[in-house]
Amino acid sequence: MDSSVSSSLAIDAFAVRLSDIGAVDLDQLHALSIGVGWPHRAEDWQLLRNVGHGIAASDEIGRVLGSAMWFPHGSGFATIGMVITSPRLQSLGAGELLMRRVLEQQQGRELRLNATRAARRLYLSLDFRPERTVFQCQGEARVPRQTHVVPPGAELRRLEQADLAAIVALDAQAFGVPRRVLLDALVQESVGFGLFRGGRLNAFALCRRFGRGHVVGPVAASCDEDAIAVVAPHVSDREGRFLRLDTQLREGQFGTFLSQSGLRVFDTVLTMSLGRQSADPGSRSSGQPVTYALASHALG
Ligand SMILES: CC(C)(COP(=O)(O)OP(=O)(O)OC[C@H]1O[C@@H](n2cnc3c(N)ncnc32)[C@H](O)[C@@H]1OP(=O)(O)O)[C@@H](O)C(=O)NCCC(=O)NCCS
Repeated sequence: MDSSVSSSLAIDAFAVRLSDIGAVDLDQLHALSIGVGWPHRAEDWQLLRNVGHGIAASDEIGRVLGSAMWFPHGSGFATIGMVITSPRLQSLGAGELLMRRVLEQQQGRELRLNATRAARRLYLSLDFRPERTVFQCQGEARVPRQTHVVPPGAELRRLEQADLAAIVALDAQAFGVPRRVLLDALVQESVGFGLFRGGRLNAFALCRRFGRGHVVGPVAASCDEDAIAVVAPHVSDREGRFLRLDTQLREGQFGTFLSQSGLRVFDTVLTMSLGRQSADPGSRSSGQPVTYALASHALG
């Protein structure tokens, strides 16, 4: 990361030092997110550090009090996430300071993030524009009484590392930009199911350990039936255990399937963008792949 990030600022009674997030203790980052009630494990932080960049704010004796990260995909786009300030530092301008430092690193990239209620006004003040709601669905997974069959003419199978290029290509159509580095890392950490027609990948769902249990995401598909076909095996695999899925698509068959699978809306965040607005997955044209589930709030 650019060494110009390292600097200091007096905030109220606190002297806060900013440094590269890769240089700070993982356990302190873990404690920071626990302090604001987030479920991330230390391993979840490590995955994010492997695929992204970030800034940490520390006090004079090295205690981590804040963080902000970004996840670039090529030179034109990035998501922003893990924006946290410890409760004793909140409402003193540290969140804004961290965000301004992150924005300085972006060199004109289009930006997307998923804002908690606490952060919305901060992002609005930095010119991010609200787009749509993300529903954080979670609970004890259960197999719906109505069995979901694989659509006729399609083949469902476990994904392998050799499928990475097809996953990246389909995800790029759905998400809007190719995310090869991220997907390479996620495929290694995940179990994946893909739906194929004539040997071509039409839908996929990855599932990995995260927080209190497992998270399903990303999921890309061009219709509810296909999305259900690739998510259903993960629900079966995790039956009776904690499962989470973050989606902008809570209507229709897919929403009903999530509810019947025990994944109820626990909370919402708001997708916001700076620059080009992202396409609305709810109003896509027929046959267009869309993102049915996010990789995570931070990763989009
Ligand atoms: C969201 C979060 C990062 C904001 O951090 P913060 O350090 O409180 O941010 P700031 O101090 O820069 O701004 C927050 C508020 O304080 C106000 N503020 C900023 N400087 C101030 C000052 N000197 N005196 C009084 N208020 C001030 C801002 O106007 C803003 O108020 P508003 O939200 O009512 O508009 C922090 O609340 C947090 O970590 N929350 C939990 C985790 C979370 O939700 N993260 C966001 C993920 S998207």
